[in-house]
Amino acid sequence: MDDVKILLSESELPQKWYNVQADLPEPLKPPLKPNGTPVGPQDLSPIFPMELIKQEVSQERWIEIPDELLDIYKLWRPSPLCRARRLEKYLKTPARIYFKNESVSPAGSHKPNTAVAQAYYNKKAGIKRLATETGAGQWGSALSFACNLFGLKCTVYMVKVSYDQKPYRKFMMQVWGGKVFASPSNLTQSGRVVLTKNPDSPGSLGIAISEAVEDAATHDDTNYSLGSVLNHVILHQTIVGLETQKQLKIAGENPDILIGCVGGGSNFGGFAAPFVPEKLKGKNIKIIAVEPTSCPTLTKGPFRYDYGDIAKLTPLLMMYTLGHSFVPPAIHAGGLRYHGMSPIVSLLFNKKIIEAVAYPQNTVFEAAVVFAKTEGILPAPETAHAIKCAIDEAIKCRETKQEKCIVFNFSGHGHFDMASYDKYLSGKLEDYELPGEEIKKALGELPEIK
Ligand SMILES: Cc1ncc(COP(=O)(O)O)c(C=O)c1O
Repeated sequence: MDDVKILLSESELPQKWYNVQADLPEPLKPPLKPNGTPVGPQDLSPIFPMELIKQEVSQERWIEIPDELLDIYKLWRPSPLCRARRLEKYLKTPARIYFKNESVSPAGSHKPNTAVAQAYYNKKAGIKRLATETGAGQWGSALSFACNLFGLKCTVYMVKVSYDQKPYRKFMMQVWGGKVFASPSNLTQSGRVVLTKNPDSPGSLGIAISEAVEDAATHDDTNYSLGSVLNHVILHQTIVGLETQKQLKIAGENPDILIGCVGGGSNFGGFAAPFVPEKLKGKNIKIIAVEPTSCPTLTKGPFRYDYGDIAKLTPLLMMYTLGHSFVPPAIHAGGLRYHGMSPIVSLLFNKKIIEAVAYPQNTVFEAAVVFAKTEGILPAPETAHAIKCAIDEAIKCRETKQEKCIVFNFSGHGHFDMASYDKYLSGKLEDYELPGEEIKKALGELPEIK
């Protein structure tokens, strides 16, 4: 088969999301309140609609996608699975490399897959406005797009370093009606506390989450929306992996290696989760999560209960973490600057069902440029982490003469990341390896759970 794009028709769109909670080797540990007791649905109801709370804890293997959402998904789904033949040729590898192209969505990444679902369930619950954070700007764009479809207002706390690096992301959100503020902001108590301590704070996802949660919790008509980490987000993203499975079948392929970048774990989790049952049945698939060396949550953090945000407004989640007070260096993959990790991805890693690697940003941009030159598409810096890993695996195949099938999730394009490419091309991009003492310091503030 010589095709480059493996396409599904709209009628082949998956009708259900896959809930990996039904197949995990052990149940997820529950989210906890600061006093160590489990969080119940009533604790989450001030900021989430009940349908999403139900999905968060559901043990049902399959969850129906509402017709109205399927219609919206058809704006960009099913997304193509592409064979990277030119990259293979450039690398002189016998491996077959495929990528699932999530950059074709309106916002340019996988993020709208859950944004539209979250806006839908909030609208049904009578909510008028959603508040959220955004790192790279992809999530804020996705939620602004989704809120606009459902007539909801959208407030976005955008991590300051990205707000400054990516003004066009901000304008994109504004076109869809989103209101965007640089975080830390002086609009919330959480933001003001950070600004008092450090007026030049570059911000972090942990800080922006505190601001958005506080905003939602203090306004009755407003809910909070999270673009990653939580179980219902991974659930919505499984549409990516489910389509990929159908497309690989059409191509007559059995994947040997699956790869995705990880910030909070949503694109990786949604891409990889549908393959977990096969792996648990003994199929030999290597599943790799890729993170930056400057924010090495899986590769250097402990598996512990921790808060999802700096102001400790979220419940405690059992996850790999660098500590909720950790502010990662201002690297250019803004979406990977998160101290924690999805509890689902964390458990899969802890049980050795998946593995993880970390790369410094210069090698990542080098891979991004190779990809842009061979396959044409300019990747988001986050996505380029997955590309770097796919290239490394393909080079291993060249050395060992193994014809493996490598599939990675192309989580988004980098059309709004040109300032980062400029820095890389002009040799001004710095690599950060997080010093052990800094990790130790942030971990020192982890809560003790008896
Ligand atoms: C293009 C892209 N890929 C990946 C990520 C990382 O997030 P997650 O781990 O939730 O997929 C982001 C986050 O902003 C992103 O914008």
